[in-house]
Amino acid sequence: MAGLTAWDRQTTMDIELRAVKDEAEAKRFMIACEATFGDELTDDDWKDFKNVLESDRTIAAFDGDDIIGTAAAFSFRLTVPGGGEVRAAGVTVVGVLPSHRRKGVATKMMRKQLDDVRAAGEPVAILWASEGSIYQRFGYGLATVGQQIDIPRTKTRLLNDPDRVGTVKVGVPMENVGDLSKVYDRARSERPGMVARSEKWWKHHTLRDPERHRDGGGPRFSGILEIDSEPAAYALYRMHHKWDDGSPQGHIEVKELVATSPVAEREMWRFVFDIDLTASVKAWWLPQDSPLMLMLMEPRSLKARASDSIWARIVDVPGAFEARSYNGSGEVVIDVSDDFCPWNEGRWSFDISDGKARITKTDADADIKLHARELGALYLGAFTFAELERALRVETWTEGAIGRADDLFRTARKPWNPEIF
Ligand SMILES: CC(C)(COP(=O)(O)OP(=O)(O)OC[C@H]1O[C@@H](n2cnc3c(N)ncnc32)[C@H](O)[C@@H]1OP(=O)(O)O)[C@@H](O)C(=O)NCCC(=O)NCCS
Repeated sequence: MAGLTAWDRQTTMDIELRAVKDEAEAKRFMIACEATFGDELTDDDWKDFKNVLESDRTIAAFDGDDIIGTAAAFSFRLTVPGGGEVRAAGVTVVGVLPSHRRKGVATKMMRKQLDDVRAAGEPVAILWASEGSIYQRFGYGLATVGQQIDIPRTKTRLLNDPDRVGTVKVGVPMENVGDLSKVYDRARSERPGMVARSEKWWKHHTLRDPERHRDGGGPRFSGILEIDSEPAAYALYRMHHKWDDGSPQGHIEVKELVATSPVAEREMWRFVFDIDLTASVKAWWLPQDSPLMLMLMEPRSLKARASDSIWARIVDVPGAFEARSYNGSGEVVIDVSDDFCPWNEGRWSFDISDGKARITKTDADADIKLHARELGALYLGAFTFAELERALRVETWTEGAIGRADDLFRTARKPWNPEIF
């Protein structure tokens, strides 16, 4: 790894970008990546990372022999509106050592990565951003919104509380991957934004639970709800114990709660809310349209806070948008500007017939003008054209075009991606 000394070159000309060539270099790559976040790579981290890292999709930035910048991509299958799937690059481990920042290294890596993604025929790239301000310049748009909640257990009474349904089995998540993935896959087929998980991914990514990431909490447990002997929902959670003057003040932290029906969702929350010896329940990344607020007697107690979750970069306009579904039939012409991926620029006809789009370049006048970022925000259904217009993010050139476009692009559910990668 490079010494953390100032870097006096003013350009990235001498920075070489290439994939790691063997396992030893892959490990150095991950050590450098952790260092960009001020962290270290433990043996346990490496054991897991090497199972999911796709070496040929790494981009290591070398200053001489030192790796000073990192980026990589996972090969995902992403659910899109209508229940179809699209191949998507899951951008990850982006970092540049403090000694080499603000000189264009990340920009150079993003350039190479998006060119590689395009060459690989993946129409979309998605990522979680450590800071939202980093990626919009590369054409990423806010594609899913998550909610964080923090609810006192005394305020978790359900509205019109009916009798309990189903039974919950508590266990060690690693021993229940079969049931967890059954629930996840059923939910995924109806929820844009979720990505397919292999068994390897479950074991070496979703369910990894190193002690140093527990933030003082206990190990992670799975609660699996069965209805009619079938797994219908699960919660991955841990307990954070804290005692104050003999009374429990700790909380339950829910990493992920996935359900296959509204009843299963209600019963899974009931289970989490009923766990004793805690004062509150916290969860990250609930869907934007989570029904929980509407299930509660006291909605205010949820203390929901919205935040950006995944960002999407449309790399190939027809490839991405023809994979999803629409409503009815009609045409809208969208003029796209895209300085970072100029092949997307120009006027595109979205010719929609019975819910399927045919997207081609056109000379016709534009109905709507926008930047590629906005395409990312529209793609999975997180935002509508009207919302973007109110945020001064799209321009309308034909009267009524926004309403027409929203009728065509309307989605049944908001997108959701429950896992940081
Ligand atoms: C974010 C990071 C990768 C950027 O690397 P970098 O090589 O300094 O980026 P570049 O020099 O290519 O910067 C490109 C532009 O983005 C801006 N930028 C870079 N990092 C930024 C940040 N964190 N917030 C806002 N703007 C940022 C730069 O100012 C520059 O703007 P300009 O073109 O107008 O001058 C680096 O700061 C880093 O490693 N941060 C810590 C780890 C991290 O957060 N990684 C991202 C994980 S999702």
